[in-house]
Amino acid sequence: MTYNKMTVEDIDVKGKKVLVRCDFNVPLDAEGNITDENRIVGALPTINYLIENGARVILCSHMGKPKGEPKPELSLAPVAKRLSEKLGKEVVFAADDNVVGENAKAAVAAMKDGDVVLLENTRYRKEETKNVDEFSKELASLADVFVNDAFGTAHRAHCSNVGVSALLKPAVAGYLIEKEIKFLGSAVNDPVRPLVAVLGGSKVSSKISVIENLLDKVDKLIIGGGMAYTFFAAQGKTTGTSLLEADFVDYAKKMIEKAGDKLVLPVDTVIAKEFANDAESQVVEGNIPDGWMGLDIGPKSIELFSDVLKSAKTVVWNGPMGVFEMPNFAKGTNKIAQVLADLDATTIIGGGDSVAAVNQAGLGEKMSHVSTGGGASMEFLEGKELPGIAALTDK
Ligand code: 3PG
Repeated sequence: MTYNKMTVEDIDVKGKKVLVRCDFNVPLDAEGNITDENRIVGALPTINYLIENGARVILCSHMGKPKGEPKPELSLAPVAKRLSEKLGKEVVFAADDNVVGENAKAAVAAMKDGDVVLLENTRYRKEETKNVDEFSKELASLADVFVNDAFGTAHRAHCSNVGVSALLKPAVAGYLIEKEIKFLGSAVNDPVRPLVAVLGGSKVSSKISVIENLLDKVDKLIIGGGMAYTFFAAQGKTTGTSLLEADFVDYAKKMIEKAGDKLVLPVDTVIAKEFANDAESQVVEGNIPDGWMGLDIGPKSIELFSDVLKSAKTVVWNGPMGVFEMPNFAKGTNKIAQVLADLDATTIIGGGDSVAAVNQAGLGEKMSHVSTGGGASMEFLEGKELPGIAALTDK
C-alpha cells in the first residue's frame, strides 16, 4: 500500500481547535505506572508543532479494552501526567466517563491558543469500536480539524480515527504516522537493496500473510524463532518437543520450494529439556532429539544470519529469534539486534516482541526506526490497507 495524505504542515492551525488521535495505549504495571513510554514520546513532535503554531490541542486515545464502560484502571489520567512532564506544560485531563461530557466540553471551552487537553479513554464508550455516527459526531463537535497520529491503531476502523475523519475535513496525518509510513512504506515498496527481512516469533500461522507479501519483495528472508521448527519439520528434520504447527508443515514445504535460495533458515539450535531459563541445554545441528525443545538459534546460525545481514542496505525485523525473555535463551535475539545496530543500513523494527527485544538489549536508539505499531505494522507488512490512514484526506 502506498499513501499520499495531507499532513499537519498542509493546514493552518493557528487559533483552531485541533482534535488529535494518538495511540496512548501504553503498558501499565499493577500500580498504574507507565512501564514503556515509547508511544508517548512518539506523539511529541506533532503535539509540540501544534502548540508552537498556536493550535488548541485536544488529544484523544484508547487504553486497553474497557469494553464500552468506564474502568478506572484504564483511565488516561496517568498519561496526562506523563505527557505534562514530557511537554513541560500542563495537560488538562478532562476526566469524563462519557468522554465527550460536561467536563470535556468545559475544558475545551476554557482553552487558549497553545493549550492542551486530553480526553478520557475513548473505549469507555461502547460506540467507539463500532464506528457509529453518534460518538464520531460528539468527538467532531469539539474541534475544527482532525489530525490522526495514532499509527498503532491505524488497523482499526473506530469512531476516533475513521469516524471523525469523515466529519472533520481536512483530516490529516501527524508526524508519527508520516514517519511510520515513510520507513515501513519505503522498505516494502521502494527499498534500497539488498532488502533483508528477519522474521521470528512463535507461530508460522500468524505470519503467513507477512511471509507471502515479503517473499516477492525481499532479496533474503531469514526465519528464526519458534516458527523455524515448522520449517525444520518441512525439511524432514525431527523437532522433539519444540513448538510445531503440524497443520502448516505442508505450507512450509511450499514456501521452501518457492523461496529457493532467498530463504535462510537456522542451521543449529540451542535445545533444552524444559521451558525454563535454568533447564539443561546444549547446541545441536540438524535433528532435535526426542524430549528436547528448541529455545534459541545456535552460534552457527547467528554467524550465518549475521553474514547475510552484513550485506543488507535495508532490514525489516519482526519477531525474536528465541525465548529472549529468558537470559539463557536470549543470545540469538540479542546478537541479531547488535548486528542490526552496527549496520550501515536502514534498520526497521516492525513492532511487537522485536521492539521489546531491541529495547531490552538497550539498542532501540541505534535503529533507524522502531515502529510504535504492533498489529498495525504487521498488517502494513502484510500489504493490507490500514483504514485509519486510508480515511485521511489525500494531498
Ligand atoms: C495496539 O496496542 O496494538 C493498539 O493500541 C491497538 O490496540 P487494540 O489491539 O486493543 O485495538
